[in-house]
Amino acid sequence: MLRYEVRMSPAATPVRRQLHTPPVDPSPFPHHPGSLLSASDLSLEGVSHILDRATALENMDPLLRDRILAKRRVALLFYESSTRTRTSFELAAKSLGADTALVSSLSSSIEKGESLKDTGLTLRALGAETIILRHNSSGAAWLLEAETRLPILNAGDGMHEHPTQALLDLRTILAHLRAGLTTVTAETLAGVTVMIVGDILHSRVARSNMLLLPRMGARVLLCGPKELLPELAAAAGPGITVERDLEAALRQSQVVMMLRIQAERLAGLQLDLDEYKAKYQLTGPRLATHAPRALVLHPGPIIRGLEITAGVADGSQSAILEQVRNGVAIRMAVVERALSAAPKQGGRA
Ligand code: CP
Repeated sequence: MLRYEVRMSPAATPVRRQLHTPPVDPSPFPHHPGSLLSASDLSLEGVSHILDRATALENMDPLLRDRILAKRRVALLFYESSTRTRTSFELAAKSLGADTALVSSLSSSIEKGESLKDTGLTLRALGAETIILRHNSSGAAWLLEAETRLPILNAGDGMHEHPTQALLDLRTILAHLRAGLTTVTAETLAGVTVMIVGDILHSRVARSNMLLLPRMGARVLLCGPKELLPELAAAAGPGITVERDLEAALRQSQVVMMLRIQAERLAGLQLDLDEYKAKYQLTGPRLATHAPRALVLHPGPIIRGLEITAGVADGSQSAILEQVRNGVAIRMAVVERALSAAPKQGGRA
């Protein structure tokens, strides 16, 4: 309890007042039940529902699927470049019959200095019922939700989160290790080690996977140099450990997730790329010797010859293009979820 004395003018009667520090409320986000801001927004039941719907929608007759969100309005707001996420969200929304509008920072009034808030409110006034946002600032999706109260789908915010990537990674892992199971529990990935290699510090993909996979019993093994993987990362949550030696990590893992070095986020950090490749590049001989049956994943974009060799990226253990395909199914389920919880006229939730 905080106590302080209020000083009054001499004429006034001195009073002693007490301030009570209120308990910290749980996060008010997401405001909207259709939003997906963080991998931690979802219960395991919610994850199972998305996995289940992804499979159902993928297998549905396209002519029937096309009616599910017919004429609903989906805005894609992209402040950063993207190939996989943007295209798969757009294809997913269109596959369900929705009308989509893409706003990117390079061809819109954002270039003239319009704020995220005003851009979001403008999209809402134009009839957008959900906004899919990629932004270079961590937390941008939360701000957009607070300002528009629309269901917001976080398509990557700075160095923070990329929840649909974690869901599509999970779908890929389940397809290979659990025969495409769609109902997940706290034991579904017991005994599975997923190693994530490279630029963990700047990776929203790593963060969302670290929030999602251990809840199903997976062990997440982080691997990389100190500059890109602070020791503190092991304290990020239960089931997360650090292993600096790539070959030792490979020997323990059933899934190997490689990450790109994010040159755009290194901000002056000096990294010797030859040394990095010598220690952390996933090569054919390394994989064959230390993890000959492991599943190889990469969220992309891939820099062939840096974090992964072309032979491994195109090899029989790679499920990289399968991840891309899973992105469409997962995003159909996530867009449907956003709009089934949204008011029809795009009003406040
Ligand atoms: N995985 C991913 O977010 O890729 P893009 O940047 O191409 O969307």
